[in-house]
Amino acid sequence: MLPNYYRAHLDSMAKNLRAFPWHDRYAYGMYIAQTYYYVCHSVRLLATAAGRMTMEDNSSHKRFLTHIREESGHEVMARRDLEELGFTLEDFPELPETRMFWETQYYKIEHIDPLSLMGYILALEAIACEQCPWITQELKKSFPNNAHTFMRVHGEEDPDHVAKAWEQISALPPARLKAVVENFEQTAVGLNNILNGVMRRMVEKVSAAA
Ligand SMILES: [Fe+2]
Repeated sequence: MLPNYYRAHLDSMAKNLRAFPWHDRYAYGMYIAQTYYYVCHSVRLLATAAGRMTMEDNSSHKRFLTHIREESGHEVMARRDLEELGFTLEDFPELPETRMFWETQYYKIEHIDPLSLMGYILALEAIACEQCPWITQELKKSFPNNAHTFMRVHGEEDPDHVAKAWEQISALPPARLKAVVENFEQTAVGLNNILNGVMRRMVEKVSAAA
């Protein structure tokens, strides 16, 4: 079980996900396109972090290598879901909110601590386990099955992953734990920014059409 600190950030993401119009083809299309853009970096981030780890972090290094195999190709699911909705990536350019989400991760790996990426991973995995199953059910009401593969697959992720990640994190010395915790918070804020960014473009689109 995650400490309350993490719970508050997970709840803030959950609140925004609950408010999102999953039935709307344009909103879901823009969101899954943004998912594609940041997921393109999952394996690259893991590989960069794994390559920066010393022998002291060998168990994390090995875990990251395993995770690379698990994450490989996940961006393709998001792109195919988008195409099933009748859109292409050209319809939804990458938002600055999305670039701010993943670009900072490279900085943290290179200049703070490669293990700080655990905060990003833990936040994304925990929110996926909790939220993707009901979001998939919502999407099923409006779209064909092959338009929500990314959500379905990520909702099926083993909750044990989150528990194991937390176990690994909680054993870290305080300075390194701080880097992970800060990144957990930053990831929650960043995901909320993406959701709010999509919503803002929706409002602008409706206003422009009126
Ligand atoms: Fe994934």
